[in-house]
Amino acid sequence: MFDLTDKTAIVTGASRGIGRSIAKTLAAAGARVVLAARTESALEEVADEIRAAGGGVPFPLALDLAQPSSFKERLGSLPTEFGKPDIFVANAGITADNLLLRMSHEQWQSVIDINLTSTFALTKLLVRGMMKKRWGRVVAVSSVVGMMGNPGQANYAASKAGLIGFTKSVAKEVGSRGITANVVAPGYVATSMTEEISDEARDKMFEHIVLGRFGEPEDIAAAVLFLASTEAGYVTGEVINVSGGLLI
Ligand SMILES: NC(=O)c1ccc[n+]([C@@H]2O[C@H](COP(=O)([O-])OP(=O)(O)OC[C@H]3O[C@@H](n4cnc5c(N)ncnc54)[C@H](OP(=O)(O)O)[C@@H]3O)[C@@H](O)[C@H]2O)c1
Repeated sequence: MFDLTDKTAIVTGASRGIGRSIAKTLAAAGARVVLAARTESALEEVADEIRAAGGGVPFPLALDLAQPSSFKERLGSLPTEFGKPDIFVANAGITADNLLLRMSHEQWQSVIDINLTSTFALTKLLVRGMMKKRWGRVVAVSSVVGMMGNPGQANYAASKAGLIGFTKSVAKEVGSRGITANVVAPGYVATSMTEEISDEARDKMFEHIVLGRFGEPEDIAAAVLFLASTEAGYVTGEVINVSGGLLI
């Protein structure tokens, strides 16, 4: 089940955390995987891990999501055998938390640019190739915060809610071409993004998480694998919450 042999996937934020797990999971299912992020040394490590595990072939791609004018050239540097990507996982994301009254325009804009605008620009470039093949998968990694809101995260919540509206619109535009577009919305996941949360704050959070723990990157990767698969071909415009019951 979930065989991605002969498919090319591109995963942003593949250098660590959830994106790293998504990339490894898609490669284990047989996909050629373009590993996109800024930290090339970390991408090389992920590529080595994928090669050691067998399965699909990795290709590290240095990409700064703050530089949309470079996207076309960067995507043009993929090896010929990778062809045009069939699967796009818009995973990379940042936070720049502050209460509304203290939030700077820069904090607002940087989060919107990396989390939302880069997804618009990359989806636009990548969907073209998918349309020609009449097969494609777009999976955006949002957050339950995009639906619940969170004090101190107006910028992040807006970007993640934006991804949901964006993806649903894309789903309606490209469905007739055999392309699906869906969202995975994680709750709290154990990565560098959440490592600074104190034990006390964690215990408080666990009271609201039905399954009583933070998710692991693999929990999110499993949902992405499903949505990227042929088997999920009749699922589009959906949001799958993978939050351990934080959002029910
Ligand atoms: N962890 C959670 O609790 C949680 C919950 C809900 C949703 N999410 C979402 O899940 C996604 C992954 O989160 P994570 O926890 O794995 O985060 P993470 O550990 O902080 O990793 C973020 C990834 O994004 C990449 N990235 C950041 N800025 C970039 C830029 N300008 N250009 C290219 N790549 C950039 C980073 O790579 P480089 O630094 O190498 O560029 C890294 O690979 C994010 O969209 C996040 O919002 C996370």
